[in-house]
Amino acid sequence: MEHDFQIAIDGPAGAGKSTVAVQVAVKLGFLYIDTGAIYRAVTFAAVKSGIDLADSDAVAAAAAKLNVEMYFDREKLYRIYIDGEDVTGNIRTPEISRNVSTVAQIPAVREALLDKQRNMAAGGRVVMEGRDIGTSVLPRAEYKFFLTASSRERAMRRHRELVSQGYGVTFESMLEDIQQRDNADSLRSISPLKPAPDAIHIDCSETNVEQVVDFIVLKVTGGKI
Ligand code: DC
Repeated sequence: MEHDFQIAIDGPAGAGKSTVAVQVAVKLGFLYIDTGAIYRAVTFAAVKSGIDLADSDAVAAAAAKLNVEMYFDREKLYRIYIDGEDVTGNIRTPEISRNVSTVAQIPAVREALLDKQRNMAAGGRVVMEGRDIGTSVLPRAEYKFFLTASSRERAMRRHRELVSQGYGVTFESMLEDIQQRDNADSLRSISPLKPAPDAIHIDCSETNVEQVVDFIVLKVTGGKI
């Protein structure tokens, strides 16, 4: 059964969006696009070129000329490149995580990335994950989901993830980080984090990944894969 549509998955940091979105994409044979990774790539490129992140014009110029490519295949191999250089690991460091909200709040940066994101999703058969996909990037996506989880649960997940990667971070600092990012993402004037009116809400605090993935796949296929 062929399915040609776009799926938008939005929600706050750490709700489990990426894990869910990847598995949905794999099950449907769709492309997976992580738009947070694009904002992270801009942040990394700006920091690397020594741009002052308070200089909105300079950061926006870096976003406009960002040559970013993403690869995703059924073996869940997900990689991101800037100018052909693999930056998959570089964009997830605590330094980039701390600074990415500042970059994502710059209206000209969001504007510059809008067309890039739409072009990536243009063919359909795509699961696109972010904060404003259902509201702003793909307002006409056929299916929209908004995933949430409590901030403690989300901080616990991020803490586990970073500790397993060898970073010496505390749970309290993660909780503070998540709350600050939620505030910055929800309060920004352009494309704030908020569910589209037609989004289906899923609370992932106590549901496991498989349940959420199965729910979404069933919803979008009506059981006919
Ligand atoms: O999902 P993430 O933590 O990798 O996202 C990184 C940052 O980018 C986060 O601060 C929110 C922002 N972002 C955004 O503003 N809009 C999107 N569509 C995706 C991410």
